[in-house]
Amino acid sequence: MVGESLRAEDIKQGEYIWSRRDFFSLSGWLGILAVSGIWGASLIRFMFPRVLFEPSPVFKAGYSNDYSVGEVSEKFKATQRVWIVRDEDGLYALSAICTHLGCTPRWLTAENKFKCPCHGSGFTKEGINFEGPAPRPLERLKITLAEDGQLLIDKGKKYLYEKGEWGKPGSILKA
Ligand code: FES
Repeated sequence: MVGESLRAEDIKQGEYIWSRRDFFSLSGWLGILAVSGIWGASLIRFMFPRVLFEPSPVFKAGYSNDYSVGEVSEKFKATQRVWIVRDEDGLYALSAICTHLGCTPRWLTAENKFKCPCHGSGFTKEGINFEGPAPRPLERLKITLAEDGQLLIDKGKKYLYEKGEWGKPGSILKA
């Protein structure tokens, strides 16, 4: 009774804010709310895993008659790091990644070779390493025809000279 009259008196005087029970009750609910919030946020985050969406390794490279015999086309070097080469046997796609440490070589028309600016490796037009520290030839990439007749290059499928894969279907397109 004495406590109640004190409380009523406090309220009347505007000095009473919360009882200890109210305070702990509110704290409890806030705690539950915080834990639920964290748990909910974790659940939502779990539904969106950290996945890196990389661009497709496949691209179209125009029509075979866009390329003339003897030509090393640099049309896709900047965007795809690929050269398209046409010789008497057909078309092949060379990866423009040096097999030494991964720099991008240059095609030197006058010298009829690829030359890496980093440590001086040289490759023939076919991609064979013949000077500098590169330990193996450039890699060829899968080249086929798309349904619409365009060249289809798949950078995900590689053909290695040292494994005898340059003669395999897909390593060269007879055209
Ligand atoms: S990265 Fe090409 S020669 Fe070293």
